[in-house]
Amino acid sequence: MRFAAGGHRVVAMDIQEDALNGVAEAIKATGGQCVPLAADVGSEASVAQAAGRVDQTFGRCDVLVNNAAIFSTIKMRPFEQLPLEEWMRVMHVNVTGTFLMTRAFAPLMKRHRWGRIINVSSAAFVMGRPNYLHYTTSKAAVVGMTRSLARELGSDGITVNALLPGATDTEIPRETVTPEQKRQQIAMRCIQREEGPQDLEGVVSFLASEDSAFVTGQSFVVDGGYCFL
Ligand SMILES: NC(=O)c1ccc[n+]([C@@H]2O[C@H](COP(=O)([O-])OP(=O)(O)OC[C@H]3O[C@@H](n4cnc5c(N)ncnc54)[C@H](O)[C@@H]3O)[C@@H](O)[C@H]2O)c1
Repeated sequence: MRFAAGGHRVVAMDIQEDALNGVAEAIKATGGQCVPLAADVGSEASVAQAAGRVDQTFGRCDVLVNNAAIFSTIKMRPFEQLPLEEWMRVMHVNVTGTFLMTRAFAPLMKRHRWGRIINVSSAAFVMGRPNYLHYTTSKAAVVGMTRSLARELGSDGITVNALLPGATDTEIPRETVTPEQKRQQIAMRCIQREEGPQDLEGVVSFLASEDSAFVTGQSFVVDGGYCFL
C-alpha cells in the first residue's frame, strides 16, 4: 500500500490467491497500480514463472521485498515436539524461498545496475524467542543470507538489507500469543505500545530508496526498542 501510494508499480505475490486479489483491489481503490501474482516462493518453477511475468510486463524489477514466510500459522511449542516435516517446511519456505526469489529477480536488477533487496527476518531471532525453533533458525539464516548477498551484489549496484520486526499486529489473529504474553512484550519495549505494519513502512521505504545507496548487508530491528543489536 505504501509503495503504491508513492506511485510505484507494485507486483503483489502470495500463495493465497483470494487474499492477493483483495490486496490488489484495495490498492486499485486508492488509485494505485498493483499486479496480483499467485506464486509459491518455495517452488523453483513457480518463482521462475513469476519472474518471467514481471520481466514481460515491466522489463525490470527495482525492489524485491522477501516477506512471504510461514509464520502466523505456526503453533508455538517446545523444540522436542517439533515434527521434522514442519521443521523442513518452515526452513524451505522461509530460507529456500528467499534464496529462490532473490536468484530469480536479481538478474532483472543487474540489467539496470540498480536494485534493492529487503529480506524480512525477525527480532524473535535476536532475542532468541523460545518455542519457535524452526522459525527463529530460519530468520537467523535470512540475516546470514542478507550479508553474503550484499557482498555478491554490491558491484551490480544492488543493496541487500534485513528488516527485523518485533511482534506486529496484523489482520491475522495470533491465537498462540496469550493476552498476558502480549502485555509482557509491550512492557519490555522502550516505546510501550502495540506494533503495527505502519511502524515498518518507513524503514522499508528508506531501504528501497536512493537515500540508502550506501547501506548494505545491515539488519534493522524495528520493535519499539525491545531488542538491541
Ligand atoms: N507479524 C509479526 O509479529 C512478525 C514479526 C517479525 C517478523 N515477521 C515476518 O514478517 C513477514 C510477514 O509476517 P505476517 O505477520 O504478515 O505473517 P503471515 O503468516 O500473516 O503472512 C505470511 C504470508 O506469506 C504467505 N506465504 C506463505 N507461504 C508462502 C509460499 N510458499 N509462497 C508464497 N507466499 C507464501 C502467506 O500466504 C501469507 O500471506 C514474515 O516474513 C514474518 O516472518 C512478522
